[in-house]
Parts: sequence; structure tokens; C-alpha cells
Amino acid sequence: MTDIKDSYISEGEFQLLRELIKKEFGLQIKGDKRLTLHARLAHRLHILGLTSYADYCNFVRADSSGAELQELASHVTNNETFFFREKAQFDIFSHVLEDIKKEKQKKKRQDLKILSLACSTGEEAYTLNILVQLSGLFLWNWDVRITGIDISRIAVEKAKKAIYSKNSFRGINGESGQIQKYFTCEGELYRLKQPFAKNVEFRLGNIMCEDAYAGLEGADAVFCRNLFIYMSPDAIGKVLVNCYRSLSDTGYLFVGSSESLINKTDLFIPRLVNGVIVYRKNVKKN
Ligand SMILES: C[S@@+](CC[C@H](N)C(=O)[O-])C[C@H]1O[C@@H](n2cnc3c(N)ncnc32)[C@H](O)[C@@H]1O
Repeated sequence: MTDIKDSYISEGEFQLLRELIKKEFGLQIKGDKRLTLHARLAHRLHILGLTSYADYCNFVRADSSGAELQELASHVTNNETFFFREKAQFDIFSHVLEDIKKEKQKKKRQDLKILSLACSTGEEAYTLNILVQLSGLFLWNWDVRITGIDISRIAVEKAKKAIYSKNSFRGINGESGQIQKYFTCEGELYRLKQPFAKNVEFRLGNIMCEDAYAGLEGADAVFCRNLFIYMSPDAIGKVLVNCYRSLSDTGYLFVGSSESLINKTDLFIPRLVNGVIVYRKNVKKN
């Protein structure tokens, strides 16, 4: 029997997989990435005893439990992330927290809800919690909840552990004092200290689907960064509708700095704050 590791993916099979990934996850694979897909999936096919990618596509489609689809997501997604990525946005977030607190005081509420969509291995969600804790604005009786959602099971499992290697600290290079402040060193690894890990939860989900957001309505801020660059316009549209529905009317949306939504949606209105664009809900679309 020919092993899948020895047989290369054909153009037809590549197109089949590309369509499946776009339909299910909203991700566009641009250019000839046949070698990349082969490198990422050959081992999975080998484990399953499948000898062609066409058989693999059929296998994924026939699996009504959705388990193989989840496995596929873990193999084909780009999970690149690190603490304090795009720091200018986090500086604005700290500023925005003060406005959120004022808004909450007006409403006589003591809850703070933040979503980190496409959270990957959790660095973004934990960075948000570090900033919330450092702000000192939401202590004592406040109910703080930061929820990360990602489609990759492997990434979500890693996020829940809150243990990282040096690679996750590219955003705080040369500031090792910061690392010691938030992490306990365990050999080559770093464990996030409890005060910065509490209040953060992770779930597996496809953020194009409404059910991924169950129970998360009324969010004060939604971060969805560095995913739209990989998504089709149709998929971005679906995610934006879900962001709109999950945000409170006074909430804030942050997208990656290279993912401008200007002229792409009328659900959100851009606001320039100290050189950084944040999006507010266009409440007229309610
Ligand atoms: C490049 S990472 C971005 C991580 C983080 N937001 C940041 O900016 O550092 C993109 C993440 O999007 C996730 N992803 C891709 N498609 C998704 C979908 N349809 N639903 C949920 N997560 C998705 C991937 O698994 C990956 O972890």
C-alpha cells in the first residue's frame, strides 16, 4: 500500500480541500499552498490509514460528530500570537477601560465582559486580564469575565494551561521585569500567576457561527485581531454580525491594525483614539 507521506496532493485534491476549509472555517488559502497543506496533513492521513486527500475530504464530510472537522482546523490554522501584540491597541484599551467603568457606574452595574475572538493559545485574553487587573478599576465586588474562543482544539487546550515559552514574550522584549511580574519561571517555561489567570475562560468554537457566542451577550469589548486577513469577505461579514450582536450598545470592537473595516461594513463606526482606530456599534442598525 502506498503511504500518504510518499504521495503528493494533486491539483484536484488541493481544490477540494481549499473549498472545504473556506466553507467550514471561512479561511481563504491564496496561491499554490499544496506543499504546505501536504506537510500539515500527511501525518493525519497516515494515522487514519487514508491514502488520498480526496478520501480525506470524504471522511471529514461523512463524520457527523464534527470531530474530524475540529482536527482539520487544528492542522490548518495559523496560531501565531504573543503577549502584548500590537501594544498601541492595548494602551488605548487601558484608556477605554476608564470609559467603560464610568458607563457601568451610570448603569449601576458591576460586571465587565470581554471577548477575545480567534484567541489562539490565549496570550491576547491573558494580556487583557493583566491590563484589567493593573487598572485597579474592577476589584472587589466586580464580576470580571474574559472569554477566549478559537476553532483549534490544540490552541484552546494550550490556552487553558496558561504555561508559555519565551517565544510568547516577543511583545515585551527587553522588559524581563514584566515577565517576572506576571509569571512564575518553571525551568524553560513560564506559568501565569493566579491573579492574572483568574476570570479568563476558553472555549472551542467557530466564530462564524452564532452558537459559539451562547451566553456571551452584552460584551463591553470584543477583540478580533489578525484573523480577517485570512478570511473571505463573506466570512468576515458573518463574524461582524456576531460581534455586533454580542456587544453592548456602548461596547468597543478592536480588529488588527492591518484589518481596517472602513467602507467594509455599516455595522460599526470607526473612531480615532490617539492614532489607533477603535470601532463603536452603529446603534441605528439595531
Ligand atoms: C493568527 S491567530 C490570531 C491570534 C490573536 N487574535 C492575535 O491577534 O494574536 C488566528 C487564530 O484564528 C483562529 N481561527 C481561524 N478561523 C477561525 C474560526 N472560523 N473561528 C474561530 N477561530 C478561528 C485560528 O485557529 C488561530 O488561532
